[in-house]
Amino acid sequence: MKSIVIYFSQTGNTRQVARAIQVGISESEGECDITRIQDVGNEDLLKYDLIGLGSPVWHRREPANVLGFIEYSMKSLEGKHAFTFCTHGLYPGHFIGRVVPALRLEGLMVIGWKNWYCSVWVPEHPKPYFTDGHPDEIDLREARDFGQEMAERSRRISDGETNLIPELPVGREYHELYPGPGSTDRAGRRSYPDGSLDMIDLRSFDFKVNMDKCNYPRCTLCIDNCPTGSINFSVSPPLFRKNCDRCFFCEQICPRGAIEVDWKPISDFVQKSVIDEWVKVAGEAAASGRLRRLVPPEKVGLKTPWYTVKKPPRLKPL
Ligand SMILES: Cc1cc2nc3c(=O)[nH]c(=O)nc-3n(C[C@H](O)[C@H](O)[C@H](O)COP(=O)(O)O)c2cc1C
Repeated sequence: MKSIVIYFSQTGNTRQVARAIQVGISESEGECDITRIQDVGNEDLLKYDLIGLGSPVWHRREPANVLGFIEYSMKSLEGKHAFTFCTHGLYPGHFIGRVVPALRLEGLMVIGWKNWYCSVWVPEHPKPYFTDGHPDEIDLREARDFGQEMAERSRRISDGETNLIPELPVGREYHELYPGPGSTDRAGRRSYPDGSLDMIDLRSFDFKVNMDKCNYPRCTLCIDNCPTGSINFSVSPPLFRKNCDRCFFCEQICPRGAIEVDWKPISDFVQKSVIDEWVKVAGEAAASGRLRRLVPPEKVGLKTPWYTVKKPPRLKPL
């Protein structure tokens, strides 16, 4: 059996989980390849029998580049076995409920899925965050076990066994398992429990490039690391195209702090309207055993959003 784990990761959580899954698969069924999503194409995938795809949750769903990858780079894979996994903060949202059907639509047989609470470095979110410290050794052990389970399940299905694939939770059940009613993301898109989205004006978010600080064309870090290829510096002022997923990685990694966002209004909004809900959701997740708190509740940085803790560059590309 030939297997591969494909991952998208900006801050390393999904990469760590993906590597542990790879180890689990190798232990169970022999060699397993691993690759970043950016480094693999449709042709490369044809030789695999089992394909795993993992990513962070963004705006309570899969990042746009991950959906694009499924739709454009996972062609002609009918009948092959697949699994998916994600890492996230407090809101796994609709990731599993959207990615599993998207893979099925391409004809893959989806044999399993799993999600992990992980650390969060979002500028307007508390630092330390409720789920910081994950993935830890226990999570990575779980990821390894999951890899073993996927490899074994794939083999048993190939040997003719049936009834090994769990049902996707649906409707209300899904909603209870992955709490968080429809939400509005930073680009103003509203998502609903069934996974559907309203597209509002993506360009409305206020951010700009300060050309006095920017070192283009000597530096192209933001362009090179934009998952949707949305940044166009060949025009003046530089353009953030409509397909921008509002991850703001460009703002977080710019060595000169040249991409400027006024975080205060959004952080004020968080303080005023949502932080109490986050405290409640974290409490419920911990009480139900879904979240093992590594940051004690009193240590969560409710009054210290990440953007106030460190000036850009706050993050480095992997
Ligand atoms: C743009 C953006 C949106 C995010 N949206 C969510 C979300 O809706 N729900 C959630 O639980 N976590 C959210 N997160 C947190 C990430 O899912 C989490 O930190 C993830 O583990 C990051 O994975 P990585 O380190 O592999 O990049 C978001 C992070 C970013 C950067």
